[in-house]
Amino acid sequence: MTTTLTLDIEREIQRLQTPQIVELDQVRSLHTWLDNQRISRQPGRILGESRTGKTCGIKSYLMEHPPQQVSGVVPQVPVVVVQVPQDCSAKQLYTLIIEALQFRITKGTILDLRQRVYQLLNDCQVQMLVIDEADRIKSKIFADVRDIYDKLNIAVILVGTERLNAVINRDEQVKNRFLAYFQMGVLNSVQFEQTVAIWERDILRLPVPSNLTNKSILRLLRKKKRGYIGILDMILQQAAIVALRKGNFKIDLETLKEVMAGYG
Ligand SMILES: Nc1ncnc2c1ncn2[C@@H]1O[C@H](COP(=O)(O)OP(=O)(O)OP(=O)(O)O)[C@@H](O)[C@H]1O
Ligand SMILES: [Mg+2]
Repeated sequence: MTTTLTLDIEREIQRLQTPQIVELDQVRSLHTWLDNQRISRQPGRILGESRTGKTCGIKSYLMEHPPQQVSGVVPQVPVVVVQVPQDCSAKQLYTLIIEALQFRITKGTILDLRQRVYQLLNDCQVQMLVIDEADRIKSKIFADVRDIYDKLNIAVILVGTERLNAVINRDEQVKNRFLAYFQMGVLNSVQFEQTVAIWERDILRLPVPSNLTNKSILRLLRKKKRGYIGILDMILQQAAIVALRKGNFKIDLETLKEVMAGYG
């Protein structure tokens, strides 16, 4: 009996540790905006503070537009997403694009690499290229990014925080191309309550209801977290795991207070 319970708890903890994406209203609006940019082949930017769900929103868009493998022919890849490293060079950017398209990297000069990327983007009929953490791209590489839009007619979308805005605005030719934008915001109080309810029902899925939308718990959650979905997720996920490890099947106020005390 005890063994079964322990195993179940471990499985539950593993489940909670696995990232899950929820189709929130804001994510749906983001997807509609991305559809519009992709279909009209227009570039743009997605802006939002850290932990507002930009990367998750893009990942779920990519999942909705997966590559289509038609046998014997190059795959059709409507959407490509790359996450660039700090001080990203042109070589790194092109390499990431080739990897995202699941092709082999070949040796050669930067010109060869660019040529290969253009060829692959064309062959795979890529409609949209999303560059996450785009403020990490070296300033002079923005010319390469612009060319992908100008020469290949691909909707290039740059994603980042206010830092990205500052980088884009420094160069008029970049700024004027990436004028269209989508803002990922923090949750207002109504959305906050709805999101807590969704998390309890769809993500935490504990055996016993915790009633996380009751006034005292909501007040506590709201106090520190001010609607950042990523922070809310961290706290609720950790609280659920702590509760399970204590042998509780729900999150009580005491456990939540304990977990929240660990967050600044
Ligand atoms: N739609 C969602 N469904 C489930 N979890 C989400 C969702 N959006 C955000 N999260 C949670 O919030 C965390 C932060 O989200 P994400 O990484 O997308 O933020 P971000 O805006 O890209 O932040 P940063 O600017 O720091 O990269 C995720 O790791 C995930 O746990
Ligand atoms: Mg991110």
